[in-house]
Amino acid sequence: MRILLIGDIVGKPGRQIVLRAVPGLRIAERLDLVVANAENAAGGSGLTPEIFQELIAGGVDCITMGDHIYRRREIYSVLERDPRIVRPANYPPTAPGRAFTVLSPAGQAPVAVFSLLGRVFMPPVDCPLHAAEQVLAQLPPDVRVVLLDFHAEATSDKQIMGRYLDGRVSAVLGTHTHVATADEQILPGGTAFQCDVGMTGPHLSIIGRRIDRVLETARTFRPTHFEVATEDCRLHGTIVEIDPETGRARAIRRLMVTQPEAEQFAALARGQAG
Ligand SMILES: [Fe+2]
Ligand SMILES: [Fe+2]
Repeated sequence: MRILLIGDIVGKPGRQIVLRAVPGLRIAERLDLVVANAENAAGGSGLTPEIFQELIAGGVDCITMGDHIYRRREIYSVLERDPRIVRPANYPPTAPGRAFTVLSPAGQAPVAVFSLLGRVFMPPVDCPLHAAEQVLAQLPPDVRVVLLDFHAEATSDKQIMGRYLDGRVSAVLGTHTHVATADEQILPGGTAFQCDVGMTGPHLSIIGRRIDRVLETARTFRPTHFEVATEDCRLHGTIVEIDPETGRARAIRRLMVTQPEAEQFAALARGQAG
């Protein structure tokens, strides 16, 4: 089974490259499931019901979020009723959304997806290790394939989670920093791991925002509107190949799709459709 996790989709440029690339990527990479972190999809912060639908219609099967999850309150109702989106599992049970979901990719074994927030430079949340235990204890016994999006700042925290869950989940993949790390690996127990899968959005930027605005605020402390940048849009993500019988990872590979490559994927999808 082959699963792609797409890193934080930032604003319209991020959404556009996802919509151009994903249908063709599904074919070219023989993907069974596409999961995307969309916490920055609406104007750089949060997610709206319309954008949720747009991404699902564009070939994304499931959406994870992060610390920006509730920036747009319109998303609460989607979080409460749609099984294709999860909230961080270490938020309180009263927070809108579900702590995990189980998906059924066509002709494949069921896949559980959940996300957790780290605790460095993050809003105060429950212990992510403890919350991971609670999610695993609730999973139906026939679910062997489990993907965790660990939305956290510190690479050390991410390594702790990877080692803690090694052999008990199929993949621990990081998001939130918007910078891909070159440490993709399969841990000894069979869990695919990477500190951060990167950002899907404009890379001529400071983590997706206009360089001039961020620099002005950094230099002068004068607040500016951190507008989403526009240039050098790329899709970053990671593909994990998993044995559906055991839930163990067989391979992990970083993925970067540039804009010209996204157009090639769009042409491939058109060709298959026609
Ligand atoms: Fe983000
Ligand atoms: Fe984040």
